Amino acid sequence: MRKKVSIVGAGNVGATCAHWIAAKELADVALIDVVEGVPQGKGLDLLEAMPIEKRDVAIVGANDYGATANSDVVVITAGIPRKPGMSRDDLLNTNFKIMSDVVSKVVAQSPESILIIVSNPLDAMAQAAYRQAGFNRERVIGMAGVLDSARFRTFIAEELKVSVENVTAFVLGGHGDTMVPLARYSTVAGIPITELIAPDRLEQIVQRTRDGGAEIVKYLKTGSAYYAPSAAVTEMVEAILKDKKKILPCASYLEGEYGINGYYIGVPCKLGAAGLEQIIEIKLTAEEDAALKKSAEAVKELCAVIGV
Ligand code: LAC
Repeated sequence: MRKKVSIVGAGNVGATCAHWIAAKELADVALIDVVEGVPQGKGLDLLEAMPIEKRDVAIVGANDYGATANSDVVVITAGIPRKPGMSRDDLLNTNFKIMSDVVSKVVAQSPESILIIVSNPLDAMAQAAYRQAGFNRERVIGMAGVLDSARFRTFIAEELKVSVENVTAFVLGGHGDTMVPLARYSTVAGIPITELIAPDRLEQIVQRTRDGGAEIVKYLKTGSAYYAPSAAVTEMVEAILKDKKKILPCASYLEGEYGINGYYIGVPCKLGAAGLEQIIEIKLTAEEDAALKKSAEAVKELCAVIGV
């Protein structure tokens, strides 16, 4: 039997996720949105591309959560995106209300599913979803580190004029201004980038990574990034559905790891069929550790506002 992935939110991120997942023939897809006609129209349009793409997947769009029943993975992108000048944190109260409603409906239909949270502010929304779902932490994971690392990798590959395939990079911490790109653990064909890029130039690349989301919002004006965010979600979905045991930076609920207890924050995670299968603890310098803790404090403040 084919796997099933439901995507809540048929906006740019959700619809593009459906596109990547179908194009890779990872699973049947249910696309859900409150707006009448949009998930149905986008779902049918995508379905009609499948003969050309030579992919056998069912794609349905619906307003009713019944269509999501018995999903293996549910991706939640629902919420409002940023406009220029807004921070991800400005979305907090509105997206919290949407998240609570969505999660309760999703869980009723797919009590065994694994949730991937994409809505912003990411870490606080993952925490809200975790509390609302009542699932164990293995089954509620936030997407951000894969996206932030992909941006970092893009800029490193451009700088050094090497294949993106040669570049691995780790970005930890929250998905916000306090994110922690780890240059020491970022390599080109195994060589740490700290040996390849001068410190001041590297700092500029790190800062561009931190501002990566805002750079796109500034161009688009009416919304935020979606190609790279949805590709990042798809990598996580694939790791879970294919039980790849893939190590990716994801937002996970920490229970003492990295000295942080009771909050979602981006850390290296092993993803497989059970969802989050392991949190990998790497040694951080005092400076990196302080940056991660600062990032966790920022997440903590947002969680306090919405009481999760
Ligand atoms: C970004 C938004 C999606 O980083 O958070 O582009």
